[in-house]
Amino acid sequence: MQEILEKLEQKRQAARLGGGRRRIEAQHARGKLTARERIELLLDPGSFEETDMFVEHRCTDFGMDQQHIPGDGVVTGQGTIDGRLVFVFAQDFTVFGGSLSEAHAEKICKIMDRAIKVGAPVIGLNDSGGARIQEGVASLAGYAEVFQRNVLASGVIPQISVIMGPCAGGAVYSPAMTDFIFMVQDSSYMFVTGPDVVKTVTNEIVTAEELGGATTHTQRSGVADLAFESDVEALAEVRRLFGFLPLNNREKPPVRPTDDPPDREEPSLDTLVPANPNKPYDMKELIYKVVDEGEFFEIAPDFAKNIITGFARIEGSTVGIVANQPMVLAGCLDIDSSRKAARFVRFCDCFNIPLVTFVDVPGFLPGTAQEYGGIIKHGAKLLYAYAEATVPKVTVITRKAYGGAYVVMASKHLRGDVNYAWPTAEIAVMGPKGAVEIIFRADLGDPAKIEQRTQDYRERFANPFVAARRGFIDDVIMPHGTRRRIAQSLRWLRTKKLEYPWKKHGNIPL
Ligand code: HXC
Repeated sequence: MQEILEKLEQKRQAARLGGGRRRIEAQHARGKLTARERIELLLDPGSFEETDMFVEHRCTDFGMDQQHIPGDGVVTGQGTIDGRLVFVFAQDFTVFGGSLSEAHAEKICKIMDRAIKVGAPVIGLNDSGGARIQEGVASLAGYAEVFQRNVLASGVIPQISVIMGPCAGGAVYSPAMTDFIFMVQDSSYMFVTGPDVVKTVTNEIVTAEELGGATTHTQRSGVADLAFESDVEALAEVRRLFGFLPLNNREKPPVRPTDDPPDREEPSLDTLVPANPNKPYDMKELIYKVVDEGEFFEIAPDFAKNIITGFARIEGSTVGIVANQPMVLAGCLDIDSSRKAARFVRFCDCFNIPLVTFVDVPGFLPGTAQEYGGIIKHGAKLLYAYAEATVPKVTVITRKAYGGAYVVMASKHLRGDVNYAWPTAEIAVMGPKGAVEIIFRADLGDPAKIEQRTQDYRERFANPFVAARRGFIDDVIMPHGTRRRIAQSLRWLRTKKLEYPWKKHGNIPL
């Protein structure tokens, strides 16, 4: 018996060693942790229970029948983060470059199936050379099985991807279908085709970092949400994000007790909006001052900075914050900001996270670049997302809310539950100057007259009371009481129920 037990332990030891000491050292030399080290940092100490440690590939071509490494390049199982269940897979670059074989895919699919069955999130730690080349179409089929499960799980359980090494070819499409993508600076890459293929096909010379590094994807493409300096930091931040999320779409988000009083007043907010309507101010200041303990987990902070998205808590419960940022492009909505916010709003709606929207938006960004790029369809994504959302929606207009952008930003007309405005709000079809130049075109040659008419328009329309008279604004509130008013609204909205007419699914303007 003792001998059998020892054999088991030896087998486990061999599996834990993955591709061997030399490759582990190479992984460390690149500043990367191994799959098992990453899981240890991600999960609560001692909580990881591994599945399929002894799975091996079934390939016999290209000498693969001579190379079997237990586990086949991916570590899978479940554990806890702050005591809450989560399923995890971590690709092991030391085993065939973390490449995905048929058996490797089966392991990932098994934990995804379990996660969907019991209603717990999946976190994927990706570090892979893509499809296992020796296995050919079998590995492609493996990827497809994973993709199919990503789609089945979407909107049912949160899915988080961390890119911690190369991620090429079809390998990028599984992360692309998950809810959040984190990357690690200087060691992770995502591209459909690598620099060599790019050079052959388009003659462009580009480095892997330029083509698909963390900076590229968090600042230019918007494919990834956040980039971190190291594996350690990325994993710690995944744990922090996890704390805001419910385990599945039937649960409310977790509640974290707080000492921050819900009726806390912030007198400094009374002077946040400058007297000059064209002067910017930092909307983040409002967010930090309103939410519990000033803790805000921003999503995609480096992409489309004219809109802010992220998670916070009010009275201990998670809320999704969406806010125009007057500091960037005057807070205009454009293609990128509409896409970014629409995806965030839809995530919150899937997972029962109330939406708090802060509005200071002069409109949609004009210009040929926007129109040729399809702002009509992209802007409509945000409109669709807000109109579709059935979670509690509380909106505060701080300053400008003009035209179509006013409607889009969780207005009363899109079933906003509680719509507040600060006394500084200007809710109108457009800004005074633009309006006067159109209505009084005949006076354009007379600057004094135009100035007078602009003043008149400002006094008459650039305020919250025209909208409040119609009930489009529920109340005009004191800025210093914003936290208290939002907390009160969210409290009575906790039992909100809103049903849809039967449909298979809508057809969001993609
Ligand atoms: C099998 C692979 C592999 C792969 C890497 N390895 N990628 N084995 N299939 N796809 C192995 C290498 O042979 C090597 O084995 C070990 O992993 C480490 O690889 P290195 O090249 O030494 O590492 P590095 O220099 O860091 O380069 C990493 C890399 C490179 C950038 C990922 O290996 C690479 O370009 N690999 C191929 C990428 C690719 O084209 N994949 C297929 C994409 S097509 P040893 O034994 O020497 O340690 C695809 C289609 C999916 O994925 C479609 C789904 C629908």
